[in-house]
Amino acid sequence: MMLIDVAPMVMNQVVRTLMFLLHFFFSVNALRTLPADPCDPTAQRDPRTLRSDQVTVLINGYSESRIPLLLSLATAYAGSPLVSSVLVLWGNPSTPVQTIDRLAQNLSVSSLGAAPISLVRQPSNSLNARFLSRPFSIGTQAVLICDDDVEVDHRSFGFAFKIWGSNRDRLIGFFVRSHDLDLSRKEWIYTVHPDKYSIMLTKFMILKTEYLFKYSCGGGATMVEARRIVDRMRNCEDILMNFVVAEETNAGPILVRAEKARDYGDPRNDGGDERRGSMEEGVKEVGLSSRRGAHRKRRGECIREFHKVMGRVPLRYGYGKVVNSVGEQGLCEKGGQLVFCDQ
Ligand SMILES: *[C@@H]1O[C@H](CO)[C@@H](O)[C@H](O)[C@H]1NC(C)=O
Repeated sequence: MMLIDVAPMVMNQVVRTLMFLLHFFFSVNALRTLPADPCDPTAQRDPRTLRSDQVTVLINGYSESRIPLLLSLATAYAGSPLVSSVLVLWGNPSTPVQTIDRLAQNLSVSSLGAAPISLVRQPSNSLNARFLSRPFSIGTQAVLICDDDVEVDHRSFGFAFKIWGSNRDRLIGFFVRSHDLDLSRKEWIYTVHPDKYSIMLTKFMILKTEYLFKYSCGGGATMVEARRIVDRMRNCEDILMNFVVAEETNAGPILVRAEKARDYGDPRNDGGDERRGSMEEGVKEVGLSSRRGAHRKRRGECIREFHKVMGRVPLRYGYGKVVNSVGEQGLCEKGGQLVFCDQ
């Protein structure tokens, strides 16, 4: 009987102490800045010492109006057994410090009992910062890069991570686009194909952690120049990552079908085209509005600029879509039919 009376009080105290400690921990965490040189090769961790059964989630945050959605996404990821930790990368330099502090508190409270969530204020508003190497905060072999306005159901997330497990050098995700050669103009363009793809978008992208280092620290003068193009265009960091990975693997990304993927769109993205819909929806957009057209042109220009500095376009096409069906067997949808993916 005593136990029944006392236990809730003790528990209460334990919980309160824990809350305090966690809060303290996360407040400190929230202020954490990047180490002096994240590209220092001696600071990199041996991939074999990193966990492969869980993923680190890097969510890009920018818009204050989407903070409620960001909180709910971060909390959902933190609650998944597949997630080791969640880093919210805040890329908007004009957000007031008070808002950042409150967001950090809210995140630490909502991650109680789940994987830790930390808020990282990006050192600059460069889009390249989303791929910074973070050897001190990433303890997994894979990372999930995603936007603050894309919601994916648990099962599809788990399935995509499983597909990554057997394709560790590839980019895995739910939203794709294509490059192509415009024969009349003899130039590379950015487009959507109904049956193939070569660019995985960062709305949701699983990749091995080493690629962050390759993107941010590798590739010498060529990559310095390519990252400069991203800064100049204020766009296309995702396309550049696809270049980096294709250069390495000589293979295209792998598209996985999500049961439910909701994309709330993004006002930053003039026209928002690249933030909406799947490959199929992209096809319906053929009658391009002028804003969408402008956005596409810009992305095409990126491909041409990357081509110039790298000397080639390494992008490769992938075909079909891996679907979660027939138990453990990955099937691909091709021409409206389900076939084994290697057919
Ligand atoms: C933090 O949470 C409180 C209470 O739910 C909410 O009113 C506030 O808008 C949140 N602020 C931020 C910045 O997350």
